[in-house]
Amino acid sequence: MTKLDLTIKISRKVGYYLMQYWGDTKEVKQKSSFSDLVTQHDKIAQKIIIDSIKNHFPNDGILAEEGVFENAENLWVIDPIDGTINYIHGLPNFAISIAYFERKKPVFGVVYSPVLNEMFVGIKNQGSYLNGEKLRIKSKTKLEETVGSVGFSNNFTGLFISKIENKVRRIRILGSAAISACYVGAGKFDFFISKNANPWDIAAAFLIVKEAEGKILNLSGNEPNPLEKGSFIFANPGISNKILEFTMI
Ligand code: IPD
Ligand code: CA
Ligand code: CA
Repeated sequence: MTKLDLTIKISRKVGYYLMQYWGDTKEVKQKSSFSDLVTQHDKIAQKIIIDSIKNHFPNDGILAEEGVFENAENLWVIDPIDGTINYIHGLPNFAISIAYFERKKPVFGVVYSPVLNEMFVGIKNQGSYLNGEKLRIKSKTKLEETVGSVGFSNNFTGLFISKIENKVRRIRILGSAAISACYVGAGKFDFFISKNANPWDIAAAFLIVKEAEGKILNLSGNEPNPLEKGSFIFANPGISNKILEFTMI
């Protein structure tokens, strides 16, 4: 089995597992704050993913949100549940995000949203797909025709929204950085900003958006490194510079 086929298979398996407990989590623990949470399902999902990868590819390394931080030439970057708060509250936007890198370059990324049964796949130089349909962003230049999103970040999100809300069709906030970024790749959103994202939040979506011909910028206007914590603007290429200007707060 190829690494990509394995990843798609594990994502579906973990999606099935997570659906059994969606909105019915018995054990919720705080991490850095009352809005940074982990459940036993994040940990079990992560273990299912890592056990399966290590079983097939024992020499590969793992960088995973719930406490596995290895470094290796062949590196898997994993968020077992992106959108844990949604998962706990029975809201639909949560996803399993798995990316695979070789020598720090993205090879493929998979984001699977089990409630909506949306499987996003991005493969280096081979395009990106939503449930097997090829994705390609159609360029837009008029802000008033755009719908976009921004993740929550102190002293930024409210200011950004108040600056841009009357210039765009609508702002929506989903609660999963991985899904929100993939929605740019699918043309459902025209932009999504994630400030201070960790690699596991956006590593898989990074290649999905890039292969759909989306633009990805940091707040200085350069392409960010998905293996480093930082700010990411995912956007339709026709409006990416305008969105960048609105982030200057
Ligand atoms: C979080 C979600 C959320 C984003 C946060 C992330 P988690 O991931 O993607 O939408 O605003 O920055 O940390 O904790 O649910 O995996
Ligand atoms: Ca996350
Ligand atoms: Ca997570």
